[in-house]
Amino acid sequence: MTSSSTWITLCIALVTLYVARCVVDDRRTKSKYKDVVFVGPTGTFGTPIGFLQLLFGTRDFIQEGFEKHYGRLFAIPTLFQMTFVISGPELIDDVRRASDDQLSLYGSIKEGMQTDFTMEPHILENPYHFKFVHLSLTSNLGGRYPEIHEEVIAAFSELIPPTEGWTTFPAWFTGKHVVLRVVNRLFVGPPLCNNPDYNDINDAYSDALVKTALVMGFTPGLLKPIVSTFLDSYIPKTLRRAMEHIGPLVEERLEKERLLGKDWPGKPNDLLTWLMEKAPQGDRSLKAITIRLLATMFAAYRPASMALTQALFDLATFSSYISELRDEIEPIVKEEGLTKESINKMYKLDSFIKESLRLRAAGKSSMPRKVLKDFTFSNGTTILAGSTIIAPGYAIHHDARHYPNPNEFDGFRFSRLREEQDDPVRHQMVSVGPTFIMFGNGRHACPGRFLVSALLKTMLAHVLMTYDIKLEQEGVRPADKWYTFTPAPNQTAGLMFRKRAT
Ligand code: HEM
Ligand SMILES: *[C@@H]1O[C@H](CO)[C@@H](O)[C@H](O)[C@H]1NC(C)=O
Ligand SMILES: *[C@@H]1O[C@H](CO)[C@@H](O)[C@H](O)[C@H]1NC(C)=O
Repeated sequence: MTSSSTWITLCIALVTLYVARCVVDDRRTKSKYKDVVFVGPTGTFGTPIGFLQLLFGTRDFIQEGFEKHYGRLFAIPTLFQMTFVISGPELIDDVRRASDDQLSLYGSIKEGMQTDFTMEPHILENPYHFKFVHLSLTSNLGGRYPEIHEEVIAAFSELIPPTEGWTTFPAWFTGKHVVLRVVNRLFVGPPLCNNPDYNDINDAYSDALVKTALVMGFTPGLLKPIVSTFLDSYIPKTLRRAMEHIGPLVEERLEKERLLGKDWPGKPNDLLTWLMEKAPQGDRSLKAITIRLLATMFAAYRPASMALTQALFDLATFSSYISELRDEIEPIVKEEGLTKESINKMYKLDSFIKESLRLRAAGKSSMPRKVLKDFTFSNGTTILAGSTIIAPGYAIHHDARHYPNPNEFDGFRFSRLREEQDDPVRHQMVSVGPTFIMFGNGRHACPGRFLVSALLKTMLAHVLMTYDIKLEQEGVRPADKWYTFTPAPNQTAGLMFRKRAT
């Protein structure tokens, strides 16, 4: 047989296996859950047909279910299985209250990102790197704010040198690189945070993870180890490149420790230090440290850089907000400069960014949880172990019950609520609840959100004070791009900047 016919045979075999598995699962699920509504095509081939409709974007089962069955649980076809969607505050609250051994975020990341094959087996059994985000960053945000501020200024002046006339810069590239650089300042410090090769590796690693996870997700369990040997040469290669940067840095820090003692002067308090000193004993090899660094960057930088890019598009699109935002920011900065405390007073800016997140950043499927033990919702319906539960993020954030004129960009929606209700906390970007699940909800709510809020506010405040900004084509906001359930900003469009005219 020629090699191409071998491949064709293999593909046909895989597709047949896939369809057979879906059909069996479909039957089994429907007979087990008599009281749950199914949204999507019925019949023997319901799941594979439904999955194709989903993939090609011809139907949106989550939105359909949300509109028809609000407040209830419904099932939709996804890749291999039916997935259960919760809607309404009560069911979301049930998920928030469930224990980790019943409903598991890590179980679902493990499956979605195929971490056994793309990162390392067992990485999610002890995700101490996630805890370090909270311990090393969030609880020390005030202390590290001057570095954030300094790096934001440096990144923008390098990527967007202020000019007298209007100049076009690529929006997505700029957003990505500002965020990579500033977050890496907190993860590995200078000068590595501004090393183009290291930042490219972080970007490439995320990309490789997503693509490999997608292919591995399609591959049936028994074939995974074989398929992964074909696929993942790119990930170890990228990892090795990253280790070439991290290795010397680790050596340098260990050397200083040998010479100057454990708390040597100028010792950085960044994520790398935490991984070197506080990771479990067996996990302090260069490779283990590098994987955890890259894995944390993966969680951090994609959503944060998309959020920055979208907020900049919104600032350029809804330019009538610019003067009111400057009116809020400038007196505060004049009085106290940009500090952790002063950005807390920028409620309109917070509202503007939160509105941009609400409209643009919500994926259709949020808060995924793998059911590890049979789980009974407060209304009595039981979901069996092995299933997956998701929340309809996009539908919730575009629900007119909670957000009047939901599809309209209303930049001061949240600061108005704050004034009306005289409640400084509830409507902030970092506050989570059943109607704002951008950062999840409950025990696992994103520990990076306080950092993200500080980063985005500092970046936007800096842009507003330093530049004028406009769209390339007046009145035409570059459209979002959807990857099945996940939105992303337009990746090729530019934005125009010039030095702020006074
Ligand atoms: C706009 C930017 C971001 C968004 C929208 C976002 C969103 C989320 C969401 C939805 C979750 C899952 C919550 C759940 O299912 O209940 C999560 C978890 C997480 N995020 Fe973020 N995130 C952002 C930025 C960041 C940053 C900058 C960091 C790190 C510096 C970070 C670190 C994490 C970690 C470590 C977890 C896992 C939490 C756990 O172990 O329970 N995120 N994030
Ligand atoms: C609970 O919710 C499910 C799905 O939303 C519904 O089918 C079922 O009838 C409800 N059960 C009770 C006891 O209310
Ligand atoms: C992104 O924006 C550019 C310029 O506005 C446009 O030419 C391109 O078609 C857009 N891409 C997508 C995927 O919408």
